[in-house]
Amino acid sequence: MMSGSPSGPESIDLIETYRRHLSRGRALFGQVSGGLTEVGSEGAWVSTADGRRLLDCGGYGVFLHGHRHPRVVAAVAEQLHRHPLATRVLLEPVTAAAAATLASISPAGLPHVHFVNSGAEATETALKLARALGHRTVIATHGGFHGKTLGALSATGNPTYQDPFRPLLLAVHVPYGDLAAITEAIAARGADGCVLIEPIQGEAGVVLPPPGYLTGVAEACRRHGALLVVDEIQTGLGRTGRWWGGDHDGVTPDVVLVGKGLSGGVVPVAAVLASRQAYAPFDADPFLHSSTFAGSPLACAAARAAVETIAAEGLHERAREIGDRLREAIGGVLVDRLGGAVLEVRGRGLLIGAELAQPGLVGELVLELLHEGVVVSTSLNEHRVLRFTPPAILTKSEETSAIAAVDRAARNVAARLRPAPTHLPPLPAPPELTTTAPPELTTTGGHR
Ligand SMILES: Cc1ncc(COP(=O)(O)O)c(C=O)c1O
Repeated sequence: MMSGSPSGPESIDLIETYRRHLSRGRALFGQVSGGLTEVGSEGAWVSTADGRRLLDCGGYGVFLHGHRHPRVVAAVAEQLHRHPLATRVLLEPVTAAAAATLASISPAGLPHVHFVNSGAEATETALKLARALGHRTVIATHGGFHGKTLGALSATGNPTYQDPFRPLLLAVHVPYGDLAAITEAIAARGADGCVLIEPIQGEAGVVLPPPGYLTGVAEACRRHGALLVVDEIQTGLGRTGRWWGGDHDGVTPDVVLVGKGLSGGVVPVAAVLASRQAYAPFDADPFLHSSTFAGSPLACAAARAAVETIAAEGLHERAREIGDRLREAIGGVLVDRLGGAVLEVRGRGLLIGAELAQPGLVGELVLELLHEGVVVSTSLNEHRVLRFTPPAILTKSEETSAIAAVDRAARNVAARLRPAPTHLPPLPAPPELTTTAPPELTTTGGHR
């Protein structure tokens, strides 16, 4: 029974309620970032309880469409008022239409769509498909991120998240970008292997593979009979400037994982796209792997509208154009202000990472950027990389505001790190900020 009088979200002590009912860690996080509380959103903007508006360049790659895109909201609202969840006994047309729409833009040869509720669930689905097909050993990459459910975690290459949960599924990890290493692992497992790989490692800090790597991986899989699963949960649906991150290399996978942007920024939904051969076990028996809420009409209305909106508004092309400009500009201002503390600014499309010399600088920049009105993300598997994943609906003036905010935030961080005035005992300055001539900035990730 509830104790005391019921209270709406406006009247609760948020940090205390987080501490008591969600997690102390989350509460602390909220406290450190000044108790900022998000209560609304529209387009590229998130509004806070104290009346501020923050430009959302974070969101862990979900908001390619921005927030509450009118087309997605209209489709979802209509579905909400008509038939949000299905009995799952009868046929249901919205799910079927969403599958057909997604299949129409899927990489060549992947006609089957299996809807799920989250990215990690998409990974689980692919791993179970692999098992059912006889591919039992997962071959994944150091720093790769595929979700945190037990199966997905076996592939996610980060011992911090894995160690408390061992034993996990049988998985071998190889360095990302090293074609010889992964080819050797694939050859050693033969048809027992299932390669799970990102076209660009997002959570590892926006790591781009060398040219020819993904096609080499695909070729090795084909040669040795391994299953190739490409995780496009972060890179897919236009984020990198093309429909699929793998399109930059022309890879042909057996299975592709989709999530994040498929939601249209409105309803959580993810999916697995598979070839006829790879999907055969679930094609024959739909109850071999199922979930009550998966492929709900509400989520599928969002998914269909999300894909149609990207196509209609050319959001993938906008991601390429805006991304090229932003990457250069962000790199420029960060190096101007922080010099050699900025090791590299890289990415493709609207997936941009700034690698700094120390994780502490990333934390400081995140807080300064919030202060300057911009939300950005950290990287779960690489704490030295600040991540920008702005929406592709960004206007020119929003783009300019984002760059100006990065400039101010970096200037504030640099000012704090500068050595103290001479009449005070000298503080040890971080060595990378004492360099008089900053080393050349490297920006990588052009478009073919
Ligand atoms: C490449 C990739 N795969 C899988 C996931 C897991 O998705 P979710 O957080 O929806 O479970 C993520 C999330 O960041 C991701 O970036």
